[in-house]
Amino acid sequence: MIHGGTKADLKTVPLVPMTFTRSLLLAAANNMWLRERATRAPFIRRSVSRFMPGEHLDAALEAAARLQVQGITTMLTRLGENVTQPEEAEAVTAHYLNVLDRARAARLDAQISVKPTQLGLDLDREICFRHLERLVDRAGSNGNFVWIDMESSRYVDPTIELFRRLRQRSADVGLALQAYLYRTDEDVRALLPLGAAIRLVKGAYLEPAAIACSKKADVDEHYFRLACRVFDEAGRAEGARLQVATHDRRLIDRLGAFITEHHIAATSYEFAMLYGIERSLQQQLVASGRRLRVLISYGENWFPWYMRRLAERPSNVWFVLKGLVR
Ligand code: FDA
Repeated sequence: MIHGGTKADLKTVPLVPMTFTRSLLLAAANNMWLRERATRAPFIRRSVSRFMPGEHLDAALEAAARLQVQGITTMLTRLGENVTQPEEAEAVTAHYLNVLDRARAARLDAQISVKPTQLGLDLDREICFRHLERLVDRAGSNGNFVWIDMESSRYVDPTIELFRRLRQRSADVGLALQAYLYRTDEDVRALLPLGAAIRLVKGAYLEPAAIACSKKADVDEHYFRLACRVFDEAGRAEGARLQVATHDRRLIDRLGAFITEHHIAATSYEFAMLYGIERSLQQQLVASGRRLRVLISYGENWFPWYMRRLAERPSNVWFVLKGLVR
Protein backbone atom coordinates (compact mmCIF):
# COMPACT_ATOMS: atom_id res chain seq x y z
CA MET A 1 0.00 0.00 0.00
CA ILE A 2 1.44 3.37 -0.96
CA HIS A 3 0.35 6.59 0.74
CA GLY A 4 2.65 8.97 -1.15
CA GLY A 5 1.71 12.63 -1.54
CA THR A 6 2.52 14.93 -4.43
CA LYS A 7 2.43 18.70 -4.58
CA ALA A 8 -0.78 18.40 -6.59
CA ASP A 9 -2.42 16.14 -3.95
CA LEU A 10 -1.50 18.57 -1.22
CA LYS A 11 -3.28 21.44 -2.93
CA THR A 12 -6.59 19.62 -2.53
CA VAL A 13 -6.39 19.81 1.27
CA PRO A 14 -8.35 22.65 2.98
CA LEU A 15 -6.07 25.64 3.46
CA VAL A 16 -5.24 27.58 6.62
CA PRO A 17 -3.07 30.69 6.10
CA MET A 18 0.43 30.71 7.59
CA THR A 19 0.47 33.41 10.20
CA PHE A 20 2.38 36.62 9.92
CA THR A 21 3.56 36.04 13.50
CA ARG A 22 5.26 32.79 12.53
CA SER A 23 7.18 34.44 9.68
CA LEU A 24 8.16 37.35 11.91
CA LEU A 25 9.44 35.12 14.71
CA LEU A 26 11.36 32.88 12.30
CA ALA A 27 12.97 35.92 10.68
CA ALA A 28 13.87 37.24 14.15
CA ALA A 29 15.64 33.94 14.90
CA ASN A 30 18.58 35.09 12.75
CA ASN A 31 18.73 38.68 13.98
CA MET A 32 21.98 39.26 15.91
CA TRP A 33 20.90 42.61 17.36
CA LEU A 34 17.81 41.06 18.88
CA ARG A 35 19.71 37.98 20.00
CA GLU A 36 22.21 40.00 22.03
CA ARG A 37 19.51 41.98 23.81
CA ALA A 38 16.88 39.27 24.27
CA THR A 39 19.25 36.73 25.80
CA ARG A 40 20.02 39.17 28.61
CA ALA A 41 16.41 40.03 29.44
CA PRO A 42 15.36 38.29 32.68
CA PHE A 43 11.70 37.79 31.60
CA ILE A 44 12.84 36.02 28.44
CA ARG A 45 15.34 33.87 30.33
CA ARG A 46 12.51 32.87 32.69
CA SER A 47 10.24 31.85 29.83
CA VAL A 48 13.00 29.77 28.18
CA SER A 49 13.09 27.58 31.27
CA ARG A 50 9.73 26.12 30.17
CA PHE A 51 11.50 24.41 27.29
CA MET A 52 14.89 23.54 28.75
CA PRO A 53 15.91 22.24 32.17
CA GLY A 54 19.06 24.42 32.23
CA GLU A 55 22.00 25.70 30.23
CA HIS A 56 24.40 22.99 31.37
CA LEU A 57 24.80 19.30 30.57
CA ASP A 58 24.34 18.33 34.22
CA ALA A 59 20.82 19.79 34.21
CA ALA A 60 19.99 17.90 31.01
CA LEU A 61 21.32 14.60 32.41
CA GLU A 62 19.33 15.09 35.61
CA ALA A 63 16.18 15.73 33.56
CA ALA A 64 16.92 12.61 31.49
CA ALA A 65 17.24 10.54 34.67
CA ARG A 66 13.90 11.87 35.97
CA LEU A 67 12.16 11.05 32.70
CA GLN A 68 13.70 7.57 32.58
CA VAL A 69 12.05 6.79 35.91
CA GLN A 70 8.72 7.66 34.25
CA GLY A 71 9.44 5.26 31.37
CA ILE A 72 10.48 8.01 28.92
CA THR A 73 13.79 7.76 27.06
CA THR A 74 15.60 10.86 25.81
CA MET A 75 17.83 12.57 23.27
CA LEU A 76 20.24 15.32 24.27
CA THR A 77 21.12 18.29 22.13
CA ARG A 78 23.46 21.16 22.92
CA LEU A 79 22.03 24.25 21.32
CA GLY A 80 24.09 26.08 18.73
CA GLU A 81 24.40 26.20 14.95
CA ASN A 82 26.47 27.63 12.09
CA VAL A 83 29.86 27.59 13.78
CA THR A 84 32.45 29.70 11.97
CA GLN A 85 35.73 28.31 13.32
CA PRO A 86 37.12 24.74 13.01
CA GLU A 87 38.03 24.81 16.72
CA GLU A 88 34.37 25.37 17.64
CA ALA A 89 33.30 22.29 15.68
CA GLU A 90 36.09 20.30 17.33
CA ALA A 91 34.94 21.46 20.78
CA VAL A 92 31.31 20.53 20.02
CA THR A 93 32.44 17.04 18.96
CA ALA A 94 34.49 16.63 22.14
CA HIS A 95 31.45 17.74 24.12
CA TYR A 96 29.18 15.15 22.50
CA LEU A 97 31.77 12.38 22.97
CA ASN A 98 31.67 13.24 26.65
CA VAL A 99 27.84 13.22 26.61
CA LEU A 100 27.86 9.71 25.15
CA ASP A 101 30.28 8.54 27.83
CA ARG A 102 28.36 10.21 30.66
CA ALA A 103 25.07 8.75 29.47
CA ARG A 104 26.65 5.31 29.47
CA ALA A 105 28.19 5.79 32.93
CA ALA A 106 24.81 6.93 34.28
CA ARG A 107 23.01 4.01 32.55
CA LEU A 108 20.76 6.41 30.73
CA ASP A 109 18.97 5.57 27.48
CA ALA A 110 19.86 9.06 26.25
CA GLN A 111 20.82 9.38 22.59
CA ILE A 112 22.33 12.51 21.03
CA SER A 113 20.83 14.74 18.37
CA VAL A 114 23.25 16.94 16.45
CA LYS A 115 23.16 19.75 13.92
CA PRO A 116 25.62 19.46 11.00
CA THR A 117 26.28 23.23 10.97
CA GLN A 118 27.33 22.98 14.61
CA LEU A 119 29.87 20.37 13.51
CA GLY A 120 31.37 22.53 10.76
CA LEU A 121 29.17 21.96 7.69
CA ASP A 122 29.48 25.63 6.67
CA LEU A 123 33.27 25.37 6.89
CA ASP A 124 33.95 22.13 5.07
CA ARG A 125 31.86 19.04 4.41
CA GLU A 126 34.77 16.68 5.14
CA ILE A 127 35.43 18.27 8.51
CA CYS A 128 31.78 17.78 9.37
CA PHE A 129 31.84 14.18 8.15
CA ARG A 130 34.87 13.33 10.27
CA HIS A 131 33.23 14.77 13.39
CA LEU A 132 30.02 12.88 12.74
CA GLU A 133 32.01 9.72 12.08
CA ARG A 134 33.69 9.97 15.48
CA LEU A 135 30.33 10.48 17.18
CA VAL A 136 28.67 7.57 15.36
CA ASP A 137 31.64 5.29 16.13
CA ARG A 138 31.56 6.20 19.82
CA ALA A 139 27.80 5.77 19.92
CA GLY A 140 28.26 2.32 18.36
CA SER A 141 30.82 1.22 20.92
CA ASN A 142 28.66 2.60 23.77
CA GLY A 143 25.49 0.91 22.49
CA ASN A 144 24.01 4.32 21.74
CA PHE A 145 22.67 6.19 18.70
CA VAL A 146 23.17 9.53 16.90
CA TRP A 147 20.32 11.52 15.33
CA ILE A 148 21.18 14.11 12.69
CA ASP A 149 18.85 17.10 12.82
CA MET A 150 17.66 18.67 9.58
CA GLU A 151 18.28 22.39 9.30
CA SER A 152 17.05 24.87 6.68
CA SER A 153 16.53 23.77 3.07
CA ARG A 154 19.95 24.75 1.74
CA TYR A 155 21.46 22.09 4.00
CA VAL A 156 19.18 19.22 2.98
CA ASP A 157 21.33 17.84 0.13
CA PRO A 158 24.64 17.92 2.01
CA THR A 159 23.00 16.54 5.16
CA ILE A 160 21.48 13.61 3.27
CA GLU A 161 24.82 12.92 1.64
CA LEU A 162 26.53 12.90 5.04
CA PHE A 163 23.86 10.56 6.36
CA ARG A 164 24.26 8.16 3.41
CA ARG A 165 28.01 7.89 3.98
CA LEU A 166 27.57 7.36 7.70
CA ARG A 167 24.81 4.81 7.22
CA GLN A 168 27.15 2.79 5.02
CA ARG A 169 29.49 2.28 7.95
CA SER A 170 27.00 2.07 10.81
CA ALA A 171 23.36 1.46 11.68
CA ASP A 172 23.72 3.68 14.76
CA VAL A 173 22.65 6.83 12.99
CA GLY A 174 19.28 8.31 12.00
CA LEU A 175 18.15 11.37 10.08
CA ALA A 176 15.41 13.97 10.53
CA LEU A 177 13.29 14.75 7.46
CA GLN A 178 10.77 17.58 7.21
CA ALA A 179 7.19 17.01 6.07
CA TYR A 180 6.75 20.62 4.95
CA LEU A 181 9.23 20.13 2.08
CA TYR A 182 7.75 18.74 -1.14
CA ARG A 183 11.02 16.93 -1.87
CA THR A 184 10.67 14.75 1.24
CA ASP A 185 8.53 12.27 -0.72
CA GLU A 186 11.48 11.55 -2.95
CA ASP A 187 13.99 11.59 -0.07
CA VAL A 188 11.96 9.03 1.88
CA ARG A 189 11.67 6.84 -1.21
CA ALA A 190 15.45 6.97 -1.76
CA LEU A 191 16.50 6.48 1.86
CA LEU A 192 14.21 3.66 3.00
CA PRO A 193 16.01 0.92 1.04
CA LEU A 194 19.20 1.82 2.95
CA GLY A 195 17.48 0.74 6.16
CA ALA A 196 17.30 4.32 7.37
CA ALA A 197 16.01 5.32 10.77
CA ILE A 198 13.96 8.40 9.96
CA ARG A 199 12.72 11.04 12.36
CA LEU A 200 9.76 12.71 10.72
CA VAL A 201 9.12 16.32 11.78
CA LYS A 202 6.88 19.00 10.34
CA GLY A 203 9.78 21.43 9.88
CA ALA A 204 10.76 24.51 11.87
CA TYR A 205 12.36 26.97 9.42
CA LEU A 206 11.11 29.78 7.19
CA GLU A 207 11.05 28.32 3.66
CA PRO A 208 9.86 29.68 0.30
CA ALA A 209 6.43 28.54 -0.89
CA ALA A 210 8.02 27.10 -4.06
CA ILE A 211 9.64 24.29 -2.08
CA ALA A 212 7.57 23.94 1.10
CA CYS A 213 3.87 23.71 2.00
CA SER A 214 2.98 26.96 3.71
CA LYS A 215 -0.44 25.83 5.02
CA LYS A 216 -0.59 23.90 8.27
CA ALA A 217 -3.32 21.56 6.98
CA ASP A 218 -1.14 20.66 3.97
CA VAL A 219 1.86 19.94 6.18
CA ASP A 220 -0.24 17.77 8.50
CA GLU A 221 -1.65 15.73 5.63
CA HIS A 222 1.78 15.32 4.05
CA TYR A 223 3.16 14.21 7.41
CA PHE A 224 0.47 11.56 7.77
CA ARG A 225 1.06 10.17 4.28
CA LEU A 226 4.84 10.11 4.69
CA ALA A 227 4.59 8.38 8.06
CA CYS A 228 2.24 5.73 6.64
CA ARG A 229 4.67 5.15 3.78
CA VAL A 230 7.56 4.58 6.20
CA PHE A 231 5.41 2.22 8.30
CA ASP A 232 4.50 0.28 5.17
CA GLU A 233 8.09 -0.05 4.00
CA ALA A 234 9.94 -0.26 7.30
CA GLY A 235 9.41 -4.01 7.61
CA ARG A 236 11.18 -4.61 4.31
CA ALA A 237 14.56 -2.94 4.89
CA GLU A 238 16.66 -3.93 7.87
CA GLY A 239 17.19 -1.02 10.26
CA ALA A 240 14.40 1.10 8.75
CA ARG A 241 12.22 2.62 11.41
CA LEU A 242 10.29 5.76 12.15
CA GLN A 243 10.53 8.32 14.91
CA VAL A 244 7.16 10.07 14.93
CA ALA A 245 8.31 13.48 16.19
CA THR A 246 5.26 15.63 16.77
CA HIS A 247 3.02 17.01 19.54
CA ASP A 248 0.03 17.09 17.23
CA ARG A 249 -2.65 15.10 19.05
CA ARG A 250 -4.81 14.65 15.95
CA LEU A 251 -1.89 13.28 13.93
CA ILE A 252 -0.84 11.04 16.80
CA ASP A 253 -4.38 9.63 17.05
CA ARG A 254 -4.58 9.05 13.28
CA LEU A 255 -1.18 7.35 13.23
CA GLY A 256 -2.04 5.34 16.35
CA ALA A 257 -5.10 3.99 14.52
CA PHE A 258 -2.95 3.14 11.48
CA ILE A 259 -0.41 1.35 13.69
CA THR A 260 -3.13 -0.74 15.34
CA GLU A 261 -4.97 -1.51 12.11
CA HIS A 262 -1.80 -2.56 10.25
CA HIS A 263 -0.19 -4.41 13.18
CA ILE A 264 2.98 -2.30 12.95
CA ALA A 265 5.72 -3.86 15.11
CA ALA A 266 6.48 -1.82 18.24
CA THR A 267 10.21 -2.06 17.44
CA SER A 268 9.80 -0.22 14.14
CA TYR A 269 8.69 3.13 15.57
CA GLU A 270 8.69 5.42 18.58
CA PHE A 271 7.04 8.75 19.33
CA ALA A 272 9.18 11.78 20.14
CA MET A 273 8.46 15.19 21.62
CA LEU A 274 10.33 18.19 22.93
CA TYR A 275 11.04 18.68 26.61
CA GLY A 276 8.34 20.74 28.32
CA ILE A 277 5.82 20.63 25.46
CA GLU A 278 2.48 18.81 25.82
CA ARG A 279 3.57 17.07 29.01
CA SER A 280 0.13 15.56 29.65
CA LEU A 281 0.07 14.10 26.13
CA GLN A 282 3.51 12.63 26.79
CA GLN A 283 2.24 10.94 29.93
CA GLN A 284 -0.89 9.67 28.19
CA LEU A 285 1.17 8.11 25.40
CA VAL A 286 3.42 6.29 27.85
CA ALA A 287 0.42 5.16 29.93
CA SER A 288 -1.14 3.70 26.78
CA GLY A 289 1.98 1.59 26.21
CA ARG A 290 3.59 3.60 23.39
CA ARG A 291 7.33 4.23 23.41
CA LEU A 292 8.24 7.90 23.81
CA ARG A 293 11.60 9.68 23.50
CA VAL A 294 11.91 13.29 24.63
CA LEU A 295 14.45 15.69 23.14
CA ILE A 296 16.15 17.73 25.86
CA SER A 297 17.94 20.89 24.73
CA TYR A 298 20.50 22.75 26.79
CA GLY A 299 23.30 25.24 26.28
CA GLU A 300 23.87 28.96 26.15
CA ASN A 301 23.12 29.53 22.45
CA TRP A 302 19.38 29.12 22.74
CA PHE A 303 18.06 32.23 20.98
CA PRO A 304 17.33 30.93 17.38
CA TRP A 305 15.98 27.66 18.76
CA TYR A 306 13.78 29.53 21.23
CA MET A 307 12.37 31.76 18.45
CA ARG A 308 11.45 28.60 16.51
CA ARG A 309 9.61 27.28 19.58
CA LEU A 310 7.68 30.57 19.91
CA ALA A 311 6.84 30.47 16.22
CA GLU A 312 5.30 27.02 16.57
CA ARG A 313 2.63 28.37 18.86
CA PRO A 314 1.75 32.08 18.83
CA SER A 315 0.18 31.85 22.29
CA ASN A 316 3.72 31.27 23.59
CA VAL A 317 4.41 34.90 22.78
CA TRP A 318 1.60 35.95 25.15
CA PHE A 319 3.14 33.74 27.80
CA VAL A 320 6.44 35.64 27.41
CA LEU A 321 4.71 39.02 27.49
CA LYS A 322 2.78 38.07 30.63
CA GLY A 323 6.18 37.34 32.21
CA LEU A 324 7.26 40.88 31.34
CA VAL A 325 4.22 42.40 33.07
CA ARG A 326 4.67 40.22 36.15
P1 FDA B 1 2.14 21.66 15.56
O1 FDA B 1 3.07 22.80 15.38
O2 FDA B 1 0.93 21.58 14.70
O3 FDA B 1 1.73 21.58 17.07
C1 FDA B 1 0.76 20.69 17.55
C2 FDA B 1 0.41 21.10 18.96
O4 FDA B 1 1.55 20.88 19.83
C3 FDA B 1 0.10 22.59 19.12
O5 FDA B 1 -1.25 22.87 18.86
C4 FDA B 1 0.50 22.85 20.54
O6 FDA B 1 -0.53 22.44 21.41
C5 FDA B 1 1.70 21.94 20.73
N1 FDA B 1 2.95 22.64 20.45
C6 FDA B 1 3.75 22.48 19.36
N2 FDA B 1 4.84 23.26 19.46
C7 FDA B 1 4.71 23.94 20.62
C8 FDA B 1 5.52 24.91 21.28
N3 FDA B 1 6.66 25.35 20.77
N4 FDA B 1 5.08 25.38 22.47
C9 FDA B 1 3.93 24.94 23.03
N5 FDA B 1 3.13 24.03 22.45
C10 FDA B 1 3.52 23.54 21.27
N6 FDA B 1 12.38 20.57 13.14
C11 FDA B 1 13.31 20.66 12.13
O7 FDA B 1 13.12 21.43 11.19
N7 FDA B 1 14.43 19.86 12.16
C12 FDA B 1 14.65 18.94 13.15
O8 FDA B 1 15.65 18.23 13.13
C13 FDA B 1 13.69 18.85 14.19
N8 FDA B 1 13.84 17.94 15.22
C14 FDA B 1 12.79 17.72 16.09
C15 FDA B 1 12.86 16.68 17.02
C16 FDA B 1 11.76 16.39 17.83
C17 FDA B 1 11.83 15.26 18.79
C18 FDA B 1 10.58 17.19 17.73
C19 FDA B 1 9.37 16.89 18.57
C20 FDA B 1 10.52 18.24 16.86
C21 FDA B 1 11.61 18.53 16.04
N9 FDA B 1 11.58 19.60 15.14
C22 FDA B 1 12.55 19.68 14.16
C23 FDA B 1 10.52 20.64 15.24
C24 FDA B 1 9.35 20.36 14.32
O9 FDA B 1 9.71 20.59 12.99
C25 FDA B 1 8.15 21.26 14.66
O10 FDA B 1 8.51 22.59 14.46
C26 FDA B 1 7.61 21.10 16.08
O11 FDA B 1 7.63 19.78 16.48
C27 FDA B 1 6.16 21.61 16.17
O12 FDA B 1 5.35 20.89 15.31
P2 FDA B 1 4.31 19.76 15.80
O13 FDA B 1 4.59 18.56 14.96
O14 FDA B 1 4.39 19.54 17.24
O15 FDA B 1 2.91 20.28 15.32
